[in-house]
Amino acid sequence: MPCDVIVGGFFGDEGKGKIIAYLSLHDKVDIAVRGGVGPNAGHTFVINNNIYKVRMVPSALLNKDTTLMIGAGVVIDPKVLFDEIERFSLKDRIFVDKNCGIITDAHKERDRAKDLKERIGTTASGSGPANADRALRILSLAKDVKELSNYLKDVSDEVNTLLDRNGKLLIEGTQGTFLSLYHGTYPYVTSKDVTASAICSDIGIGPKRVDNIMIVFKSYVTRVGEGELRGELSREEAEKRGWLEIATVTQRVRRAAPFDFDLAKRAIRLNSATEIALTKLDILFPESKKVREYSRLSDRAKKFIEEIEDRLNVNVTLIGTGEDVFDIIDRRNEKL
Ligand code: IMP
Ligand code: MG
Repeated sequence: MPCDVIVGGFFGDEGKGKIIAYLSLHDKVDIAVRGGVGPNAGHTFVINNNIYKVRMVPSALLNKDTTLMIGAGVVIDPKVLFDEIERFSLKDRIFVDKNCGIITDAHKERDRAKDLKERIGTTASGSGPANADRALRILSLAKDVKELSNYLKDVSDEVNTLLDRNGKLLIEGTQGTFLSLYHGTYPYVTSKDVTASAICSDIGIGPKRVDNIMIVFKSYVTRVGEGELRGELSREEAEKRGWLEIATVTQRVRRAAPFDFDLAKRAIRLNSATEIALTKLDILFPESKKVREYSRLSDRAKKFIEEIEDRLNVNVTLIGTGEDVFDIIDRRNEKL
């Protein structure tokens, strides 16, 4: 499969970062390119007890043979980007599209205003105000920033050329389907569409070039910020079940609810998902922790997976069973 898109199926924080990190190491990806909104995203993944947290650069960074790119649709906070380039020594293998938007301190300031931070519960990363300025066509682009000059590329041209020669492309979505500006729980959403079609548009490839769309669902649903969350548990109940999480970017406590089949069904349609990655199975079924073979899962864990496949009519091909990137059951050989 030369071209895979990875998207979130709920409200972000489904564990895309870990899934992408695994795929980039396992599948020998030539280029990993990220779409989505901007530094409002936060991905965490763990390998050999080392914790990685990224907001701007692709989560595929662990594979040193992979070239990393950021698509034109993304808004960049240069401070966050340079910090991550430095931290992960990415200087020679990361590129940003010349048309990426640029977030300034003024955008962050506007994002901290009561109206956005409190009413919507934004991440205050400046992403929304930058996209608003882009719609007004007053936003600066990456090509206007001197410090970025060594990193500029026409990302659309790069990725299309890679596909022309049958190379392997991994397209990273951020946020989650129901944070989409168009298809989510408006107004409690992010500042752009974030479904698979939008992610492809962000990087500049047409829909016919995609082979595979992997949607990531967590075994339960979480959300930060405001907006509807069906079946929401009390904080005490979430804590009791071990579902209480802290957000990567904002450090807020995530609200939690059980796996929502109706929402998942809608997400599959909105993204035309061809396969499902299910994360954090071990939180629901502790006996499945670090299991790496399907046959070794407990009956109740298998029943949950089978119910997902039956009700959603899409195969569950990757199953996360622990925090390490390789705590995963990979069923793609038997399922695709
Ligand atoms: P904004 O994207 O910072 O404008 O925030 C709008 C809404 O989307 C808020 O509820 C945020 O918490 C949420 N949001 C944005 N990005 C992410 C993400 O990567 N994970 C989870 N929630 C997010
Ligand atoms: Mg996150």
